[in-house]
Amino acid sequence: MQDIIDAIKKASFEIQDIIQKGDTSKSDNQNSTGDTQLKLDIQSDVVIEKAFKQISSVKKIVSEEQENIIDINEDGKYLIAYDPLDGSSLVDVNLSVGSIYGIYENDFTGANIIASIYVVFGPRVEMVIANNDGVKMYRVLDGEFKYIQDIKLNEKGKLNAPGSTQQCWYPYHKEMIDRLFNEGYRLRYSGGMVPDLHQILIKGGGLFSYPGTTDLPKGKLRQLFEVFPFAYTYKMAGGQAINGFEDVLNITTEHIHDTSPCFFGSNYEINKVLETYKNHA
Ligand code: F6P
Repeated sequence: MQDIIDAIKKASFEIQDIIQKGDTSKSDNQNSTGDTQLKLDIQSDVVIEKAFKQISSVKKIVSEEQENIIDINEDGKYLIAYDPLDGSSLVDVNLSVGSIYGIYENDFTGANIIASIYVVFGPRVEMVIANNDGVKMYRVLDGEFKYIQDIKLNEKGKLNAPGSTQQCWYPYHKEMIDRLFNEGYRLRYSGGMVPDLHQILIKGGGLFSYPGTTDLPKGKLRQLFEVFPFAYTYKMAGGQAINGFEDVLNITTEHIHDTSPCFFGSNYEINKVLETYKNHA
């Protein structure tokens, strides 16, 4: 596993360079969910693929930017799903973006995720590793990732990050979001999953939601590359991650690019979501 962490650190320095100097325009390609890929997405993807191909413990990899799973070493132990540059369309307005990695054993299912790592590229570069030992944050200082702190969510937070197009929200979802605002929660939403979820983790709690909507009943965020890695991180930090009804890590994945509605937060807010959604199964 240390090999994988070292490869991610190395790749992150290269990706940081691509973000700083790269061209933010669109490529001519679309990824399998129909998003037009930016040149930055493709370049970051190439860096990560190259890094993982050199590690003997890696069995298979799959990127949000690619159609299929790539076999690496038949005898390898780990399967890695990654989103090389999540929120890449925010680079041109100079907001934070990130890379997300889910590390799985046996197969790419929520139940088999065993570690997750994300890297935030913002005013600072930070990496958060979640595994059996809990959730730890590192920051680049003097050209190296240095340990900064453990991350633990409070029982209740203060931030509300409601994703997707409000026009397409179901009325009960809107009522739940409004109730939190009426309790004093503050809006914090940049449109980048990595910084938005990182903010809630670092500030102690709150709710990030990306619900099923009238236009996208299964939500937008991809299970393997976005939802499961953050679900694992939130659970290990003492919070919860659900699809509205149950632990999102228990859902079945039929296709590597499947999406799911998702809610990440501390216990108080997630219990509010469960109370609301149980009447709308
Ligand atoms: O998956 C890409 C992404 O940019 C996430 O990083 C982010 O949370 C989400 O989409 C934002 O979507 P929306 O603009 O629909 O709220």
